[in-house]
Amino acid sequence: MGLKKSTRIVEINPEKFSMLELSEAVGLLREGKIVAFPTETVYGLGANAFDESAVKKIYLAKGRPSDNPIIVHVCDEEQLKDVVREVPQNARALIKKFWPGPLTIVLKKSPKICSAVTGGLDTVAVRMPSHKVALALIKECGFPLAAPSANSSGKPSPTIADHVFADLFGRIPLIIDGGKCEVGVESTVISFVGADGKNLIVPTLLRPGKVSVEEIEEVIGKINVPASDSKTKHAKKPLSPGMKYKHYSPKAEVVVVMPGKDFLKKVFEIGGGKDIGVLSFTKRVGVDREFFFDGNVESYAKMLFEAFREFDNKGVELILAEGVSEKGMGLALMDRLKRASSKII
Ligand code: TXA
Ligand code: MG
Repeated sequence: MGLKKSTRIVEINPEKFSMLELSEAVGLLREGKIVAFPTETVYGLGANAFDESAVKKIYLAKGRPSDNPIIVHVCDEEQLKDVVREVPQNARALIKKFWPGPLTIVLKKSPKICSAVTGGLDTVAVRMPSHKVALALIKECGFPLAAPSANSSGKPSPTIADHVFADLFGRIPLIIDGGKCEVGVESTVISFVGADGKNLIVPTLLRPGKVSVEEIEEVIGKINVPASDSKTKHAKKPLSPGMKYKHYSPKAEVVVVMPGKDFLKKVFEIGGGKDIGVLSFTKRVGVDREFFFDGNVESYAKMLFEAFREFDNKGVELILAEGVSEKGMGLALMDRLKRASSKII
C-alpha cells in the first residue's frame, strides 16, 4: 500500500500544546515504531530504548553503522536509574547544573538498555533535553527514547523538520515539527568511564557542544580534552565510535579560513570564478550567497547546518567559512566546521 511509504508531519507549538497533540507519536512509539522529534540541539529520531527491535529500525532508517551507539534521552532523574548502573559524584554535579540541557554524559550502562542502543559497549550515553516537546513526549511514553540526530547518516544534522523530511521521507511514519532548533549543533558529550571500564576521576570530552569546556570545568575542575581528531578520519581507536565517521558534510567542498587571516582576501583568491557560498563572521563579504553572523558564535552555530543544506540546494560548489576562536562554544562550531571541510587555511 502507498500509505506505508508516507511520512506525516504534525506541527506542535512548543510554547502552547496539549498532550492530545502528542498522542499519535506516543502511540507509534509504544508500538515499537520510530518518530522524529525536536530537541533544543537538533532533531532526534526516537525509539523505545528498552525495545531492541524498535532501536534497530533507527539504524535502518538512517543507514547508520550498527557499531555507532545512540544517545538515550530521559525526562527526569527517576528514568535515569533504569538507564545507568551508577552516577559518580562529579557526573551528578554536572547533571545538577546542566540538565535539562545540551549535555550528554557517558556512564556504565544498566542491563535494561538493549545492546542495539550501545553498539555492544558496556557504557551508555544519556541526556535530558530541555525542549518542552521532547520532555513531554518522553514523559508521556513512560520510557526513555534512544535517539540519534534525525538525518541520514553522513548528512548534516537536521535543525528544522524539513531537513528530516528531505532525508527520511518514506522511511519513518511521523515527524513532530516543533520549529527551528535553538542551539543548532549536537550536544556536548563527556565520558566518565575509561577504556578499562572503570569510572574516570578526570572525565574526557568526546564531543564539544553548547555546554563549553570552561563551563564544565567551573563545576568539576579540569577535564581531559583530547586534541581534535577531526583531521585523522581513520583514527585507530576513537574515543567515541561516532567520531571515526565523516560527519556533517554538505555536498559542496568546504574550506575553513582560520581567524586572524584576511577572510575577504581569501574569499576572492580561492573563490574566484567558482559558484561559492560564504559564511562570514567578522565582516560582511557582500556576495549573493552569504550568511553573515556579526561576531555572534551562537547564531553561527544555530544556522550552520541549515546553511550547508541551503547551499547544497542551490548547487554551490565551494563553501568558504570564516573560522572563530576555539573558546566557549567556538570549540564546538570549529569542530563541526573542520569535520565538514576538506581544507583548513
Ligand atoms: O544533541 C544531540 O546529542 C542529538 C540530539 C538528538 O539529542 N543527538 C545526537 O546523536 O547528536 P548522534 O547519534 O548523532 O551522536 C551521538 C554521539 C555519537 O558520536 C556516538 O558515537 C556517541 O555520541 N556515543 C553514543 N553512545 C556512546 C557511548 N556509549 N560511548 C561513547 N560515545 C557514545
Ligand atoms: Mg548524528
